[in-house]
Amino acid sequence: MKVVGGLASVLLAKGIAQELATGHVDVAFERHPGGFPDGECYVRLLGSVMGEHVILVQTTYPDSMIVEFFLLADAIRDAGAQRITAVIPYYGYGRQDKRFLDGESVSAKTLAKHIAVDCDELLTMTFHNSDLLKTFPIPAREVSGISALGRYLKSAKVDFLLAPDDNAVRFVEEASALADTSWDYLQKKRIDSYTVQIMPKKLAVKGKTVAIVDDVISTGGTIATVTKELRSQGARRVIAACVHGLFVGNAEANLKACDDVIATDTVQSRHTKVSVAPEFAAAIRALG
Ligand code: R5P
Repeated sequence: MKVVGGLASVLLAKGIAQELATGHVDVAFERHPGGFPDGECYVRLLGSVMGEHVILVQTTYPDSMIVEFFLLADAIRDAGAQRITAVIPYYGYGRQDKRFLDGESVSAKTLAKHIAVDCDELLTMTFHNSDLLKTFPIPAREVSGISALGRYLKSAKVDFLLAPDDNAVRFVEEASALADTSWDYLQKKRIDSYTVQIMPKKLAVKGKTVAIVDDVISTGGTIATVTKELRSQGARRVIAACVHGLFVGNAEANLKACDDVIATDTVQSRHTKVSVAPEFAAAIRALG
């Protein structure tokens, strides 16, 4: 077995290789120093993958990392790999999981179709709609990233977890079992891409350290709104915890409302505090 990491996931790929005690193949991402003037991607495998089961690790965000993923998968197949497992820690385009309006593409499936050209199977993490994975053209499995957050939250001595919306209830349930805390959830209404509204609810958070647990933090609008509510109900400390930290737009300003922000390394950022390498390594061992 060999592990190959795309530019979005080099550190995580190395971490997975270390966990599996297997080889890591380096990749050159530039033909000339500074890369191509027009910004196009370049990849060259710097080691052999002939006859190997290759674990290709690459988050498909931002867009250029999708192109790079396809170049890598194609190069690995051409170099004689016998099996390719795509590990997509954060599945960019996963949130469009159905056709809301006529003429739209179901982008999560569009991506899967193209991944299936060179890859034999797919592992991804804390996916927006896990049922959709069953419709992908290759076997696809969701690995939970919540366990990594749960480990961290337990050591951070958090005493209450909160799901900001219905969708996050399954994440908070899992995290609370690991961190050994009580939990609750809110109902959220999305007004637009930047604004959300939460329904009034009395929460048992007075004097407590509360972590808001979500799959994704994007603009931080959800976190800012929920943090304001928690402060008004007497929470002592508020921690924002997510698996996938995108932190776009005004996210940094919005997150100032919190005492701490925790994200995993599915997307590398200054808030990355926990690695999901052990979770992926366990899932790869279980592949058979
Ligand atoms: C929505 O279903 C997701 O779970 C997150 O709550 C959402 O993506 C967060 O977005 P933002 O940070 O922009 O409020």
